[in-house]
Amino acid sequence: MLNMKILVTYYSVTGNTKKIAEAIYDAASEGNEIDLKDLNDISIKAFSNYDLVFLGSACHDSDLTHIVLQFLKTTPKTSDFKLAGFVTHASYTAEKGDYEKEMYDKWAGRCIKSFESFAQDNNVTFLGFFNCMGIPSPPIEKFIHDQIVTEEEQWVKYLEIIKKHPDENDIADAKQFAQEIIEKFG
Ligand SMILES: Cc1cc2nc3c(=O)[nH]c(=O)nc-3n(C[C@H](O)[C@H](O)[C@H](O)COP(=O)(O)O)c2cc1C
Repeated sequence: MLNMKILVTYYSVTGNTKKIAEAIYDAASEGNEIDLKDLNDISIKAFSNYDLVFLGSACHDSDLTHIVLQFLKTTPKTSDFKLAGFVTHASYTAEKGDYEKEMYDKWAGRCIKSFESFAQDNNVTFLGFFNCMGIPSPPIEKFIHDQIVTEEEQWVKYLEIIKKHPDENDIADAKQFAQEIIEKFG
């Protein structure tokens, strides 16, 4: 379906989620009326002006950021838009193995649930979710080393992987996600 009004909006502190937002914007632009906005620059009422909203967040404290959660809480119940969510997180993604899945579930697993329960409570259709790893800031890196990936061999492996993300594959996957969401919408 062409000529949809689409909003791609994101809350990003260090730029990882913004990169994914830009990829989604690129992939969803063709044939549609589309805006790319920092969440700080819009009000929740603006969502009602769009057919489809891609909403992105960094993962903080194993959930969507407080700012995104607060933003969603203020959504008018009468809102009429379809939602797709995306998140970057410093945890591994779940699909790699048991250790990675455990880390993901504990440290980033709430993100999708928060989108889903928002959609359910507000009668908003939730079309899908994208997530990928994103390099953490130095204090968070230290926290992860001290508290989560404490074993040295695991840490070296983790650091080697996380420092590359989001990478080209994440960008390509985000673009594919955007196209799939648009197809679902149609
Ligand atoms: C205050 C803070 C808390 C964080 N908590 C988590 C967390 O609980 N789980 C996780 O996987 N990543 C966590 N991270 C890492 C970020 O989610 C990750 O680096 C993300 O890609 C940052 O996105 P941004 O560059 O768009 O801000 C945290 C980062 C910060 C700054």
